[in-house]
Amino acid sequence: MNIEKKINFNSSLFTPNSSLLTPDSSLSQKTAIIRIENVFKIYGRGETEVKALNDVNLIIEQGEYCSIMGPSGSGKSTAMNIIGCLDRPTSGHYYLDNIDVAQLDDSALAHIRNKKLGFVFQQFHLLSQLSALENVILPMVYAGVSNSERRDRATEALGRVGLEKRLNNKPTQLSGGQQQRVAIARAIVNRPVVLLADEPTGALDSRTTQEVLDIFSELNASGITVVMVTHEPEVARQTQRIVWFRDGQVVHSNMTPSDLTHMQ
Ligand SMILES: Nc1ncnc2c1ncn2[C@@H]1O[C@H](COP(=O)(O)OP(=O)(O)OP(=O)(O)O)[C@@H](O)[C@H]1O
Ligand SMILES: [Mg+2]
Repeated sequence: MNIEKKINFNSSLFTPNSSLLTPDSSLSQKTAIIRIENVFKIYGRGETEVKALNDVNLIIEQGEYCSIMGPSGSGKSTAMNIIGCLDRPTSGHYYLDNIDVAQLDDSALAHIRNKKLGFVFQQFHLLSQLSALENVILPMVYAGVSNSERRDRATEALGRVGLEKRLNNKPTQLSGGQQQRVAIARAIVNRPVVLLADEPTGALDSRTTQEVLDIFSELNASGITVVMVTHEPEVARQTQRIVWFRDGQVVHSNMTPSDLTHMQ
């Protein structure tokens, strides 16, 4: 199997070149794994200017299971993209595991994203020409994991989400819930400290939604910090803490599931 060939992989794009990337010894202590300070994200200029994030401050501690809610257009995905190092703030600071990510160049940012973060999206974003196993192997190719180790780790990750019998299926041969479980296996295979999920259950029925939430709870119990955007109160209720966005701002940073019951 040659995934590099199938995806036209160029390893030189992913070579880390920053001394900021040495492992962080503070990981064992309780720590603010995500710290956002006075973050603005402004799209457009003049009359078309949109303040997608308008002075956001947020701390998420290591080990939390947190959901982000709020109306459509309130800035949830914009915030998640910044937390996930897929985008940069217009101004303000973002510290991921005490690293000021604004100081990193693109290659260092790609490395930190691959090493510390896992992503799950509403639409799964699996590569259709690759099997479940190959999709899960992919982030390890970028991370430089040895060939011999990749297959074992991908198989283990797929086992963790209950897909040990589907290793060779392509995405089109899997149900929506199964595809999302492949995406979760892909997100955790590099052993991230934070799992980020933007409406991960938005395309799933209620039974499959619960399967995905059960996996998130297990991952969180094993020590992974989980941050999830959702529109569904019954999904948010299963997390420990709810952050509420409105008009590009955090208007409640520490709601509990019972607060949510009062609000509905
Ligand atoms: N690339 C972009 N260019 C211009 N405006 C953008 C861009 N991305 C987002 N916006 C605007 O920023 C605001 C916040 O968008 P965002 O996608 O973060 O909202 P959201 O809370 O995730 O909404 P939804 O619940 O619908 O997913 C919106 O007004 C949106 O139109
Ligand atoms: Mg969104």
